[in-house]
Amino acid sequence: MTCVDWARLLVRGCWVRTVPSAPTWGIRHVGRHANVHRSVVRRSRDRDGENDRDDGGENRRLSLPLFPAPSPGGEERARRTERAAFAAVGPEPGEAIDKARGFPMSYKVAVVGATGNVGREMLEILSERGFPVSEVVALASSRSLGQEISFGDRTLKAKVLDHYDFSDTDICLMSAGGSVSKEWSPKIAAKGCVVIDNSSAWRYDADVPLIVPEVNADAIVGFKKKNIIANPNCSTAQLVVALKPLHDAFKITRVVVSTYQSVSGAGKEAMDELFTQTRAVFVSDPIEVKKFPKRIAFNVIPHIDVFMEDGYTKEEWKMMVETKKILDPKIKLTATCVRVPVFISHSEAVNVEFENPVTAEEARDILREAPGCLVIDKREPGGYATPYEATGEDATYISRIREDATVENGLSFWCVSDNLRKGAALNAVQIAEVLINRKLITPKAQKAA
Ligand SMILES: NC(=O)c1ccc[n+]([C@@H]2O[C@H](COP(=O)([O-])OP(=O)(O)OC[C@H]3O[C@@H](n4cnc5c(N)ncnc54)[C@H](OP(=O)(O)O)[C@@H]3O)[C@@H](O)[C@H]2O)c1
Repeated sequence: MTCVDWARLLVRGCWVRTVPSAPTWGIRHVGRHANVHRSVVRRSRDRDGENDRDDGGENRRLSLPLFPAPSPGGEERARRTERAAFAAVGPEPGEAIDKARGFPMSYKVAVVGATGNVGREMLEILSERGFPVSEVVALASSRSLGQEISFGDRTLKAKVLDHYDFSDTDICLMSAGGSVSKEWSPKIAAKGCVVIDNSSAWRYDADVPLIVPEVNADAIVGFKKKNIIANPNCSTAQLVVALKPLHDAFKITRVVVSTYQSVSGAGKEAMDELFTQTRAVFVSDPIEVKKFPKRIAFNVIPHIDVFMEDGYTKEEWKMMVETKKILDPKIKLTATCVRVPVFISHSEAVNVEFENPVTAEEARDILREAPGCLVIDKREPGGYATPYEATGEDATYISRIREDATVENGLSFWCVSDNLRKGAALNAVQIAEVLINRKLITPKAQKAA
């Protein structure tokens, strides 16, 4: 069991089934996929208090294992989980699956960084969504050779990236950090394998499209220049999903965003650090600070990534540059990025100024229909989304939508999403689905036949 598995179970209050050993997390094997299924549909629908229906009769369902059994008496939790599963997961997500099943086409996919937080999530999402794979290969560093990793009901054994030949692989989902990607992505791409990269190594390259399928899927055609497609930073992905429909309707001029980012955004060791420090506080052990610049347990740290000359951090700079590249270069954006002691899911407080007048009601109506968005906005205690609800889900949750009377045409809202899913793994798989849906790649095995 991984730290991500454990964190997801922690927030969902789920039950432990069997217990072999797990050094850091103290828990061993948990019934994560216990008989609970979720549905994936084409578009998000309103889940706020006024309209409590599930799918408006339009949603195509695909039953897939994902969530562990709810805790006893957790009917409301199960209901909300089910409802959240109706969140949009990209432009017509079922389409890749349906089409693929209609065609005898499947793809050899490699996941680089398969032992990490994002890599494991990628494998899970490929399986959940029935991605048309002929073979999946799990790759990591030599440290992980032979390590077992779940892929649906199967177990894969990790191979070493350095020794793997990509000649017959169609798609590489890369999530092993910037330096590994800088070295390996061009080599892999040169073998005719399309690289979808999660690091920041290629995001700002003019010849590499930076894609969030709900926002700028059409830009994907540019991938042919380098055979590489970049995934945005986790905090940018959820932000642009929420901003896109508002920009289309009212034209955004300026955004002020403050983030509350979970520790999983900094990798598996960072999750271990929050766990270990939290435990140390309770048992009065000394607190060790390794991954973060200050103690993270029972604290918040207004610093993510390195400092830039102008006083912003690189994480804040990334949000600004990536929003411009994905959404509109004319949008002005200023960010303050903060790490909080939450295991999974990033939250953002967003203030937006528009060229045209906007009301909260209009914004709410637009966001209710927007792909990837799920509005929970009841204006009462608990009538909003928190990281607790967003963890394990695909949607970008939007709450607290209100007009900002201090500026002309201003709006504020709260936005939460699972950083390992929409912020990384899900977005990467959605990009691969766009490649397939738009027939931009053909399996090498088929070409050879
Ligand atoms: N976490 C997020 O929310 C998020 C969001 C967007 C983007 N990203 C990006 O996704 C990437 C991975 O993040 P993560 O959170 O999954 O990190 P992580 O949990 O620390 O995992 C890192 C993965 O990279 C592998 N790796 C490291 N060095 C390698 C090498 N030389 N050759 C092959 N594999 C190597 C590791 O394998 P070993 O286990 O063998 O060391 C591990 O599988 C990073 O670039 C990160 O910036 C993360």
